[in-house]
Amino acid sequence: MKTIFSGIQPSGTLTLGNYLGAMKNFVEMQEDYNCYFCIVDQHAITVPQDRLELRSNIKSLAALYLASGISQEKSTLFIQSEVPAHAQLGWMMQCISYIGELERMTQFKDKSGSSEAVPSALLTYPPLMAADILLYGTDIVPVGEDQKQHLELTRDLAHRFNTRYNDIFTIPEVRIPKVGARIMSLDDPLKKMSKSNPKAKSYISMLDDEKTILKKMKSAVTDSEAEVRFDQENKPGVSNLLTIYSLCSGESIETLEKKYEGSGYGPFKEDTARAVIQVLKPIQERYDELMQSKELDEILDKGASQADREAKKMLAKAERAMGLGRKKR
Ligand code: TYM
Repeated sequence: MKTIFSGIQPSGTLTLGNYLGAMKNFVEMQEDYNCYFCIVDQHAITVPQDRLELRSNIKSLAALYLASGISQEKSTLFIQSEVPAHAQLGWMMQCISYIGELERMTQFKDKSGSSEAVPSALLTYPPLMAADILLYGTDIVPVGEDQKQHLELTRDLAHRFNTRYNDIFTIPEVRIPKVGARIMSLDDPLKKMSKSNPKAKSYISMLDDEKTILKKMKSAVTDSEAEVRFDQENKPGVSNLLTIYSLCSGESIETLEKKYEGSGYGPFKEDTARAVIQVLKPIQERYDELMQSKELDEILDKGASQADREAKKMLAKAERAMGLGRKKR
């Protein structure tokens, strides 16, 4: 059986973009693959985090994974910092990364801006991400489009290690969904929907209530044409809403275009909101139950020990290949 690895940062509540671009696909894929899903808290600290908020975001993300349908029987769900091999292999991956290739990462360029005080970990973030993936002999990494460049670097680093030291790493494939790989902001459809955007009306949080979702959807930026038609280039706002509606309802984009022919944007936006609510409501109900239960800690303990066992084996191989420590007898 092939192995899947993916991670999500516990930095704020997940958005509908995270759900449609990543989480929803994880749930579908766990039927056919050996899956590892990670709460990447060590990635989250590459920018300053409030200690208590981070703790609460970690727990909340674990509950959201499970409430969305990740099952402890089918998948290993764990917290990155509870499996030390990630940071250890991350360091080794940094040692074979070049500053030039790390500086070319668009996410680094976007996040570092022009300030003097840029945490060095923003630059060395992708080698840690490579370690996350390579530790488990991962075949496939399901992610949204914004992670594609990091995946290409992961493949380069794996190949570099294999040729320079020993052929131990599987070269992972990236799996980006055909629809929903880049859900856009509601207030600016040329920007990616992001949980770090300070403007709350730019995104739908997975925990937003009905009223908020309706309100945000109604204020979503569209255009002055009043025609529900998919045209990414000329109608990015409407196309984004069509993508969201289609993924949430299961109806094709063409069906939706026909359904709203001549009816303007009002009913279309309201029904898009209703389709989103229908998907998020049961997740929110399960989430509330999980946050109250003890189950969460038990699942995360089990996940950490399963992941640790696997990760240690690959770490030992990598250390042997590089000549770290003493030869094991
Ligand atoms: P993160 O936490 O920013 O996002 C988690 C997942 O959600 C996807 N995503 C989106 N998809 C569609 N539309 C959007 N607007 C949108 N916003 C986010 C992301 O592509 C991602 O799949 N570096 C990673 C976390 C990570 C990781 C890994 C991922 C660390 N190690 C190893 C895979 C494998 C990140 O910051 O994702």
